[in-house]
Amino acid sequence: MFQMWKPRLILPPGVGAEVLGTDVDGLTLRILSHKDAAAVMALVQASREHLTPHGDYTDLVDRDLAAHGAALEQADEEPFGVFLKDELVGTVSLIHYGNGVFGLGYWIGAAYRGRGLMTEAIAAVIRFARDSRNAVAIWAGIKPVNSASCHLVDRLGFRLAREQDTHLSYCLDVATWRE
Ligand SMILES: CC(C)(COP(=O)(O)OP(=O)(O)OC[C@H]1O[C@@H](n2cnc3c(N)ncnc32)[C@H](O)[C@@H]1OP(=O)(O)O)[C@@H](O)C(=O)NCCC(=O)NCCS
Repeated sequence: MFQMWKPRLILPPGVGAEVLGTDVDGLTLRILSHKDAAAVMALVQASREHLTPHGDYTDLVDRDLAAHGAALEQADEEPFGVFLKDELVGTVSLIHYGNGVFGLGYWIGAAYRGRGLMTEAIAAVIRFARDSRNAVAIWAGIKPVNSASCHLVDRLGFRLAREQDTHLSYCLDVATWRE
């Protein structure tokens, strides 16, 4: 059922081996694969209302197991799982646009929000992108109504770069980023 997925063509050998640490006790990140699809799906299903109030993530909550697996094996993304001890609590995807430019996609399970976990998790992915992927700029597209997400990236040092009709584009200048 899973043999149709594309390999991660643009990533160097050894990708997937990394475990990223954070300043929060027990909070780590590692690359997910199709083997984690059931855990991702269970967390998504337990968080349906939390994930979709702004019309985002409707595709995520409607995915079946095979679609979750396929989404975790895309060639241009590194999907990090956020773990509290051994429990999956959210994901942060680092999307490769090329030439040192990246995008971020992130969500946390409803039971774990508002504890500073995603702030720490994204900081860990920024460090990884800077130190291991030569990141120059990292972008996040956020709907203006999603104030929790706007606050989060603002707190991390992203700056509002563009205001589009549907979303705000925030950008982090990695070279000048202060942890
Ligand atoms: C947006 C989202 C990722 C934020 O995740 P989170 O883990 O709740 O974020 P954090 O806890 O790090 O920060 C949220 C708040 O908790 C507060 N907080 C509580 N305890 C904290 C701590 N120990 N350290 C830091 N912040 C803490 C923060 O101050 C912050 O408040 P603010 O937004 O008013 O400034 C989460 O709400 C989510 O998954 N939403 C649905 C999906 C989504 O919108 N994804 C983003 C699409 S662009």
